[in-house]
Amino acid sequence: MTSRSRRTFLTGAAALGGTALVPRIAIAQSAMPVLRAAPAMAQLAPAGYPATPVWSYATDGAGVIPGPEIRLRAGERVRRQLVNDLPQPTAVHWHGIRIQNAMDGAAPLTQAPVLPGGSFDYDFVARDPGTYWYHSHNRGWEQVARGLAGPLIVEDREPWLGEPGAASRELTLVLDDWLLDANAELIEDRWDDLHAAAHGGRIGNTVTVNGMAYPDLDVRPGERVRLRLINTATARIMPLALPGLSPRLIALDGHPVIPREVEMIILGPAQRADVVVDMPLELEAQTALLIDPGNGERVSIASFAATGQRTEPSEETVLPLPAWGTLPAPDLATSQRETLVMEGGAMRGMSEAIYRGETMDFRGLASNGMVWAFNGVAHGMDAPMFRAERGRTVHLEMTNRSMFPHAIHLHGHHFEVLARSGTLNTPGDVRDTVLIGADETLEIAFVADNPGKWMLHCHMLSHQASGMMGWFEVG
Ligand code: C2O
Ligand code: CU
Repeated sequence: MTSRSRRTFLTGAAALGGTALVPRIAIAQSAMPVLRAAPAMAQLAPAGYPATPVWSYATDGAGVIPGPEIRLRAGERVRRQLVNDLPQPTAVHWHGIRIQNAMDGAAPLTQAPVLPGGSFDYDFVARDPGTYWYHSHNRGWEQVARGLAGPLIVEDREPWLGEPGAASRELTLVLDDWLLDANAELIEDRWDDLHAAAHGGRIGNTVTVNGMAYPDLDVRPGERVRLRLINTATARIMPLALPGLSPRLIALDGHPVIPREVEMIILGPAQRADVVVDMPLELEAQTALLIDPGNGERVSIASFAATGQRTEPSEETVLPLPAWGTLPAPDLATSQRETLVMEGGAMRGMSEAIYRGETMDFRGLASNGMVWAFNGVAHGMDAPMFRAERGRTVHLEMTNRSMFPHAIHLHGHHFEVLARSGTLNTPGDVRDTVLIGADETLEIAFVADNPGKWMLHCHMLSHQASGMMGWFEVG
């Protein structure tokens, strides 16, 4: 109860002459925990390099990279007062949470951006278990790249950890990509770089795991571990490998899958994967998390280091995660068909598109900082791409007519991948962010059951900034 509504209640009770009903002491209401966004320093580059000035989240004390882990059980509330100590307006989006619209943090669509010195109270229930994250949703291409991102873990509905075939422990691994200069400072004149925006986005040169370059991750020899992998980078697609650890995928974007062996885990920006790994009894120096930096090679970004007692390796097949049980199944027979055509970028461009109500050629668009369009509209925030009646299944066909892959994210909903033409998705998977390669077509479906205005955009955030965004309305 806010102080205002409590006052209203007291006045109302007094007006009814019901003083006896007025509680003498305030109803126990813990103060809302603070999530402060502020400049901070972080040791991102390896030891020996200076610390990097970043923007980050803090609960109390100094900000940390990644932001503090928010952890709760499915069905519990998240309450955080965002306090903005940044020099720019900001807002927090709870990526992947099927949230009520007013709490979605998608400034300026669902709330006004929080001005420097201001605050905003977020209060919502997280009903679906899984691995999620939170991040800035105002000038995200700059603010997320400066460090405003953290993990949000919604624990399983039924006990899974420690059960036969499950893992005995879990590690949250937040993967990020930073564009640093030789002094380990963020290269700041590239936030709005149209050249990068027209290509693969603002790709960095330093990949960190939990805010550190090449960390050692402590594990016990022989143990089965669940890794919650989160890609918070604003542009880099991360092909990941865990050689010798027989990785089995158990969830994508928080949604359980039937455990399956994976050689490479391809995580686009904003995507998550939960993976079970079996540590060998003899950990070697090369027991590591590897990434393909984009040239087909595999380099280590974190090593697993043996600490503590050996445990007996599990012989059991991997126990699936408990199902959500909360996502309505799409009904294709009565669905509403929509299409999303992506155009623009270097090498192909587009002949014309509408920007702020005006039709422009590619040069005209570029002079306005726009190089991408959805359905012929760049930065389509004036009107929804489509409207859906609440409860209706939307069947969306997406076509990528550009030369670059994109990471398409829908707010407020998770969708099923129906069909694909490439190799980045498996039909049947349920996600909130999907990769679509050059010239691919992908069909997805979801029940539009969450009323409100929901953003739909590329999570390569400089693509979003330069045109790849729009929204749909459910209601
Ligand atoms: Cu993760 Cu619109 O964002
Ligand atoms: Cu994109």
